[in-house]
Amino acid sequence: MGPMLTRRGVLASFAVSSVLPSLLPLRGMWNRAPKRMALEDRHRATLQPDRICLTVSEDPAIQPVTWRTSTEVDTPVVQVVEAPRGPIDPKSAQEWKAATVAVESALGASLRHTARIGGLTPGRLYAYRVGDGENWSEWATFRTPESQPKEYRFVYLGDSQNDILGQVTRVARAAMLDCPDAAFVAHGGDLVERGDRDDLWGEWFEAYQPWTRQTALCATPGNHDYRIPDPNNRDVRVLAEIWNQQFDFPKNGPEGLKGSVYFFDRPWVRFVSLNTMEPLEPQLRWLERVLAGNTQRWTIVMFHHPVYSSGNERDSSSRRGILEPFFSRHNVDLVLQGHDHTYARTGLVRNDRPAKDQGTVYLNSVTGPKQYRLTPAPLHRSLAAQTQLYQIVTVTADSLRVVAKTALGEVHDDFTLRKGRDGSKRLVEAFRPKVYNPAPAGTPS
Ligand SMILES: [Fe+2]
Ligand SMILES: [Fe+2]
Repeated sequence: MGPMLTRRGVLASFAVSSVLPSLLPLRGMWNRAPKRMALEDRHRATLQPDRICLTVSEDPAIQPVTWRTSTEVDTPVVQVVEAPRGPIDPKSAQEWKAATVAVESALGASLRHTARIGGLTPGRLYAYRVGDGENWSEWATFRTPESQPKEYRFVYLGDSQNDILGQVTRVARAAMLDCPDAAFVAHGGDLVERGDRDDLWGEWFEAYQPWTRQTALCATPGNHDYRIPDPNNRDVRVLAEIWNQQFDFPKNGPEGLKGSVYFFDRPWVRFVSLNTMEPLEPQLRWLERVLAGNTQRWTIVMFHHPVYSSGNERDSSSRRGILEPFFSRHNVDLVLQGHDHTYARTGLVRNDRPAKDQGTVYLNSVTGPKQYRLTPAPLHRSLAAQTQLYQIVTVTADSLRVVAKTALGEVHDDFTLRKGRDGSKRLVEAFRPKVYNPAPAGTPS
């Protein structure tokens, strides 16, 4: 063994001495400052479909899907099969053509495709892929809503907005793994920091993969999803055009607000998105009609700016004065909001006061790393600052249970709204009222 080792040792030292000189120039490279990858390279559209996103639809027999490609694609289609247990035969797939719009952004030109998969049966698992006949996505799956489930769940998320790829991804993944069977994912606005920045949307889609490919999204815009057309007049804001180019939300809202104001029904629930960046009166006139014909047991309304803010400087009594009486009058059960970059949840509230067997629970939450100071309002019962969260909502005919969990999967809040046959409500809280309000990181103690 000895001579062998010696020979190997000689060979090894020869190899090192002959390779080392050619490696030496690398030392210079290691000492260079790191280079930032160009945005165009990082988020460039290619022939390969990306940013694939399912959205909720008014008709559960239809599943909309949107995606992005480079501009050479001229035959965008989606192929669909009922998911088999074994290999998928593309020849057995039904094909649906997509409508396409061209988008110009700092990343260059790209195409956004929208297809609506129709004729779906409730409670079935489908496999689909998007492409152009040559370049295809993976076969991803989605399940159509059950028509008569015992219960089902959905996820609610507050602002993601900042450092999305870096710090939202872990929360999105925790939520997805915790609630893999979510019927849909609802996002309460400020999805990105600047709605007209295509690269930030690139981060958003990357952070939420593969969720957006397999679970339908519904979202309402926040102030940051708007753009400022004239930098000299920052008061004028318009919804970034990309919102409706890349998301196919229901178009049943008022004229001019389609795609940000809408509703859809799932078992026992009428779910409404309002847009608090736009005048509220026309939206409430529309909602009056939508709720007049509402036969669902539960009404859930989502929008961006909170009715009961957990930050003094962000509180708006005029917004509250318009929305709260409307929700009291229409007996809305749950209001989901964002914007405050905290977690804050009220008890049952009716006519701006605590209520016992009627009223509305208001909740705002935050997914991303941007965190604001907490200033509780008297009606708040559960609060958290310096915490990233996701909410799992479980729906049955008689109950709405909301569990708010931190980025670590720990339960921060857990409450259940119960509704009796006579329509009376009861709020059951799993915890005593709770406030988690540490000093922000880096604050001198
Ligand atoms: Fe906001
Ligand atoms: Fe925000």
